[in-house]
Amino acid sequence: MSDQNGPDLRTNIGGIELKNPVMTASGTFGYADEFKKLIDLNRLGAIIVKGLSLKPTKGNPPPRIVETACGMLNAIGLENVGLETFVNEKLPFLKTLSTPIFVNIYGKSIEEYEELALSLNTTEGIAGIEVNISCPNVKAGGIAFGVDPESAYKVVKAIRQKITRPLMVKLSPNVTDITEIAARVEAAGADSLSLINTLTGMVIDIETRRSKLANITGGLSGPAIKPIALRMVWQVVQKVKIPVIGVGGIMTAEDALEFLIAGAAAIQVGTANFINPHTTIDILEGIKKYLIEKKITCLTDIIGTFSQ
Ligand SMILES: Cc1cc2nc3c(=O)[nH]c(=O)nc-3n(C[C@H](O)[C@H](O)[C@H](O)COP(=O)(O)O)c2cc1C
Repeated sequence: MSDQNGPDLRTNIGGIELKNPVMTASGTFGYADEFKKLIDLNRLGAIIVKGLSLKPTKGNPPPRIVETACGMLNAIGLENVGLETFVNEKLPFLKTLSTPIFVNIYGKSIEEYEELALSLNTTEGIAGIEVNISCPNVKAGGIAFGVDPESAYKVVKAIRQKITRPLMVKLSPNVTDITEIAARVEAAGADSLSLINTLTGMVIDIETRRSKLANITGGLSGPAIKPIALRMVWQVVQKVKIPVIGVGGIMTAEDALEFLIAGAAAIQVGTANFINPHTTIDILEGIKKYLIEKKITCLTDIIGTFSQ
């Protein structure tokens, strides 16, 4: 099905309009070139690349991934190539795409976040920044920002003062009240919120009585977390005015539609990319099919239509 025909799938995610609501979730889509032979990358609404830090990061020792019921735990530890290599070696390919590119960033201090954001604000080929304030796998840094409303406010405010490009902030679900964090991040000047990042979990090998992950705990993702993500998105859209992007366990168009109906302006596909690299395109086509069947001409007419 061609994207030119059928319903209008455009959606605004805060400072930028996407041609459709299907984005890739950070850390599950590499730097996109890994997927270029598998799908038409120009059909995606937006691409979010692997979490980037100022300097290259090795991440945690293996084992770093373990399968769980309806999901997986990862403790990659935010391994990445670092800013310089990203700009010199990964960005040239990304620039050839018509799809907007968001760079997911993290740092161990406010200064690191600021430096990274400032540099990416003027780098050609980048549409916006997604700030990871969750980082459940990283012992130092990140974790403190995403779980405390005032730390979250401070880091986002500092970044906002440095950048003019669209600023999406990715929230941690490992908190008591996600709406409180969401409200502070909005007050700090975020253009949009994405949620959720992974939920901290663990798995024990009963033979060795040790964790199946070298890091002991890891981040849970996949279908197991979808109802939690959906509940959090629904709660947050009632609290803030900025667009919310839904992420967590989305495997099918039906899953994506649940998030859109709950009020998400767009969605991100994560773990599903590992199972079927074509998932994003299947979801895009499924959303279109649903809108055509329901005789809905604009995607925006379905967003937030949930009724109690
Ligand atoms: C292997 C792996 C690596 C991830 N790396 C990042 C990352 O670098 N930055 C980030 O903000 N989120 C990262 N995430 C979280 C995902 O982007 C997403 O928020 C989460 O997995 C929930 O969505 P899902 O259930 O569709 O996978 C990672 C997830 C996985 C499974």
